[in-house]
Parts: sequence; C-alpha cells; structure tokens
Amino acid sequence: MVLLFDPSDMEHALRNVGPHPIRNGLEAFTYYRNKERADIFKGVGGLLTVHGEDWFKFRSMANPILMQPRTIQQYVGPMDTVANDLIKNMEYFAEENENNEMPENFINELYKWSLESIGTVALNKRLDCLNMNLEKGLETQKFISSVIRANELMYYLEFFVPIWKVVSTPHWKEFVQNLNVVTETAHKYIDKALAEKIPEDVPEHKLSILHRLVKVDQKFATAMVTDMLAAGVDTTGKTLGAALYFLARNPEKQARLRKEAMQNLPVKNSPVTNEVLSKSPYLKAVIKETTRLSPIGIANMRQTVKDLVLGGYRIPKNTEAVTFHLVSSLTNGFKEPEKFIPERFLRTTSDEYSAKNAHPFATLPFGFGARSCIGKRLANLELEVALIKISRNFELSWPYEDMKFDFKLIYGIAGPLKLKVQPLQP
Ligand code: HEM
Repeated sequence: MVLLFDPSDMEHALRNVGPHPIRNGLEAFTYYRNKERADIFKGVGGLLTVHGEDWFKFRSMANPILMQPRTIQQYVGPMDTVANDLIKNMEYFAEENENNEMPENFINELYKWSLESIGTVALNKRLDCLNMNLEKGLETQKFISSVIRANELMYYLEFFVPIWKVVSTPHWKEFVQNLNVVTETAHKYIDKALAEKIPEDVPEHKLSILHRLVKVDQKFATAMVTDMLAAGVDTTGKTLGAALYFLARNPEKQARLRKEAMQNLPVKNSPVTNEVLSKSPYLKAVIKETTRLSPIGIANMRQTVKDLVLGGYRIPKNTEAVTFHLVSSLTNGFKEPEKFIPERFLRTTSDEYSAKNAHPFATLPFGFGARSCIGKRLANLELEVALIKISRNFELSWPYEDMKFDFKLIYGIAGPLKLKVQPLQP
C-alpha cells in the first residue's frame, strides 16, 4: 500500500487505471455480500463490491439512468416536496425550544431527509421518514440506525486487526445483524414498489429509477436500489449538516447565500426549479466549499494496474494507491485553506482565493473517472434544493465552541448539531 499526499501523484495514480478501475477496501462488506449472504447477492453484488468485467457491465447499465444531468433534473419537484417537510419540522423544533435551538440529535433529522429524498426518486414513493408521528417512522428509523451502525462497525472491522476473518467476533455479528436489517428493509420497499401496476402509457421519464433499471436487469436493479438507499443516508445527510454548520458559523457567507436565494425565490415557499438552480452560482459554491472542508471520504483508493513512478519511487503493479484528499485539499494552492470561503469556487473570482490556483486533484469529494460516485448528481441536487430553501426560510447561528469532526468510515461533523434557527418573514 502506498499513501499519496501530493495531488500530482494522485492524478497519476487515478488516471492510470485501465478500463476497469479497482477500488479495494470494504473487505467486511464484500465478504457479507459474497459469502454471508451469497443467497441474495451471488452474481450481483452491487457497484461497491464488484470488480473487472462485472463492474463494467453493471456500471454501463446504471450510468444512463443515474449520471445523465437531464434525467436527474426531472427529480427537482419531488426533492422540493421532501425539503418542504424538513423545513416544517425545523419550524416546529424552533417553536418548541425557548432558544430556537435544534435538538441534540438534529443530524438524525437530516438522515431522515436524505433517505426520504433518495427513496422518492429510487422508488417513486414517499417513505414518510419525516413524519413527526414516531410510530409511523419506526421502520425507516430502524433502517437509518442500522446503516449508521453498520458503517461505524465497518470502520472497526476495516481499520483494526481483522480478527473477524478468523473467528466470528461480536463486532462481526453485530455488523451482519445491521446489514441484514438494511437488506431486508430495502428489499421489502423494492418488492412493494414492483408489485404495483404501472400503466403502460407512463412516459419513461416519469418512472422511478427502480422501474427504469428493472427494464434492463431485475437482479441488478434490486442490488443497485438497495445500495442507493443505504449509500444515500449519512453521505448526503452529513454533508448537509456540515454546510449548515459552516453557514451558521460564517454569517457573512450565509447573508450572501440568502441574498441570492431571495432573488430566486420571491416568497418563502416558492418552489425550487431547475431554472432557479441554474441562477444560483453561490449555492453551488457553498456545496463545493463544504465538501472541500468536510468530504465524507477522507481518502480514495485505486489498485495500480502497471508499474508507476509516484513521488520519485517505482511502485509496482497491483499496489494499493491511497489518495489522501482531506490532507491535499487543505494545502496545495488554497489560500487560507482552513477557512470557509465559497467565493473560491465562483467563476467571477480571479484573485489569489480562486480555486483555479489549486491543483485540480487536490479536492475530489466524489472521486474521479469511470468509477467516481454514481450518486453525485442526485446528491448535489438534494443538497442544492434543501440548502436554498433553508437559507430562504431561516437565519442560522452558532453561539458555541467549534464543531468537532471525526472519521468513522464516514468523515464529518461529530458533535450535537444544535443550530439556532430564527424563522424569517415571508
Ligand atoms: C454528498 C454525498 C456523497 C459523496 C460525497 C459521495 C462520495 C463518493 C466517493 C468519494 C466515492 C468513490 C469514488 C471513486 O472511487 O472515485 C463514491 C462511490 C459511490 N457512491 Fe457516492 N457519495 C455521495 C452520495 C451518494 C449517493 C446519494 C449514492 C446513491 C446513489 C451514492 C452511491 C455511490 C456508489 C454506488 C458508489 C460506487 C461507484 C462505483 O464503484 O462504480 N453516493 N461516492
């Protein structure tokens, strides 16, 4: 394994990967899919755990459905409806608390929002995660808690001595239990969505992602949608949490975002459309700056497929090259790198703060190349819609010590997200 911190070396390693880039790691998860639950996943493990020709076949099926901007833009309406529910819950929390604070576990509310958003587009169904009636949300809450715990356990299984490979440890057993909940719940939602008759004349673009994938391959559709539901929880949820924290901590930047939001959304509940988003460059810059400072993955990985010279050393074929982007995005041409300055990512910025001065491989929050994140466009759309609405509806503040960040497979905010939230006038 070779650890890379210089973005020029990262570029070299990430570009020289052949047609089937290999990102190893996630060994415990791969074992779960290939051995423990081979009854379900044999032959179709999903994009995260397969390699070579199989990966290429699956990725080619999914790309036209998940990676085309025009296809993803069609989901702006459903995302807007989900964000409205999050806004309503935030209003309720602010009203309930005498200091207008969000509850200690507000991040969980953001996980509900992210699962609801991804569920809406993947299944064309409301999962009702944001319903304040706790009874109604029991099953989705169990799903969310299982995803979070499975990721945390995967951190212990991956990064400490892997005794689980020899004997079934308590961590391994708990990991399997949690993943079983994730698999079974996702399959239940998928089966229910597939059981409903869809009229023949529904146009392709009105179909859920599941129904579009099923037309290509039913087994792959099930594995892909299971991965979407699971991969769409703490990734997008933690990123939204970090963005809200950075905005609350930087009132001037928040004011600039609000000014843009006010221009594009005349009243608080104006719907977000693709046209609105196309006129919101600061909003997009806020997301880029958030993922530079708080990427959910601190590093990426590629197996070398030929000998490469990295950092002046000859690195043989079949080595794991690990690219540490959290480190490289805090140096390498970013002026005052530790500060939250979305202006870096505006086309109109041309001074020393511009991200154009930084190495293009220094920050790569969604990875790179043919194997980059397949949920990137969906995640960005979710984040854009929620952030523009929140900044149009509330003033956020952070009268506490700096937030802690930590890494437990997923990197991000680690303390209670007790934002102070002041509802704005219409
Ligand atoms: C802010 C949100 C997210 C971030 C920052 C993120 C980041 C990443 C990164 C860094 C990778 C590795 C890419 C590489 O190796 O070059 C990845 C892979 C992946 N992501 Fe995401 N992700 C996010 C949300 C999502 C969502 C919502 C989905 C659901 C569709 C998703 C599904 C996947 C899948 C399936 C892969 C594996 C792709 C493959 O190996 O072909 N991600 N993601």
